[in-house]
Amino acid sequence: MTNVAQIRARLLAWYDRNARALPWRARPGERADPYRVWLSEIMLQQTTVPHATPYFLEFTRRWPAVSDLARAEDGEVMAAWAGLGYYARARNLLACARVVSERHGGAFPRSEEGLRALPGVGAYTAAAVAAIAFARQANVVDGNVERVMARLFAVETPLPQAKDELKRLAATLAPPARAARPGDWAQALMDLGATICRPSSPACDRCPLSADCRGLALGQPAAYPRCTAKADRPHRHGVAYRLLHDGQVALVRRPPKGLLGGMLGLPTTDWRARPWTAAEALAGAPTPGAWRAAGSVEHVFTHFSLSLDIYEARAARPDASLIWLPTARAAADTPSVFRKALKSLLS
Ligand code: ADE
Repeated sequence: MTNVAQIRARLLAWYDRNARALPWRARPGERADPYRVWLSEIMLQQTTVPHATPYFLEFTRRWPAVSDLARAEDGEVMAAWAGLGYYARARNLLACARVVSERHGGAFPRSEEGLRALPGVGAYTAAAVAAIAFARQANVVDGNVERVMARLFAVETPLPQAKDELKRLAATLAPPARAARPGDWAQALMDLGATICRPSSPACDRCPLSADCRGLALGQPAAYPRCTAKADRPHRHGVAYRLLHDGQVALVRRPPKGLLGGMLGLPTTDWRARPWTAAEALAGAPTPGAWRAAGSVEHVFTHFSLSLDIYEARAARPDASLIWLPTARAAADTPSVFRKALKSLLS
């Protein structure tokens, strides 16, 4: 029989000694800034802490308060987000900042329900912000927490079917009262999942919950969570065009909806199952010209992988229907797939 009180005490004591110093976290005795907590939670969805941290620092340097972000130009925010992926999040981020600034007087709602009504704020984010920024009791369950629960309770149901069960198990451990530090509890579980109860080779010898862990007692903690075999990702092919003029490259703004929506990118063909022949690639070019093949790049998106052939040409003059940026700036302001396609131009 698992001792819930003991697990809570052990994990919080571990957190007091081992909490990661992260720029959105309050220092002991300080209150967390809801804007920073919300921003970090949006950035950290499907992104690791080391990858998201420089973006967080740059955003808070340029837009120190939610009202600053609300007033920012859409294109500037999309460019600053480039490389973080899941670009619908950036569009929702701006929409949310504007709602908070214009309809809530710049103050985030404090309840999960109020937070949940904001653009781009789902059940997880609402729970995380309520717990971390407002010390509300909430069951904050991300992928890290699911893994910790699956091991601690040796859950045999595979993911994704196990999600509800793992959430219920997490709720049995979540501290009951405000005095029990809901924000610290949530972040302690996240830190345990990220640093000790890692996806592979968990450091059970340093884990404060090793005595409570059924997965470890069964001798195979890393075998949890059980997973159903994933269907293979489909593969697609596309062509991207690098049209160059005087150190600049031509970009287009992608349509607001859909993959990489609203972001700047190289002009491309459709991305389809069948490879593109050279003749098709030339026929699809954004302008006539002396196009030559200039290699290819591979990129993996969530739902498919992509081989992108690159064609390059020099423009006699910059066509005004395209957006021209210096190549280094273009690489910085576009999603990773285009950054890869521009890389060989950067010295
Ligand atoms: N992942 C998502 N939110 C986090 C947080 N507040 N601290 C650490 N990792 C996280």
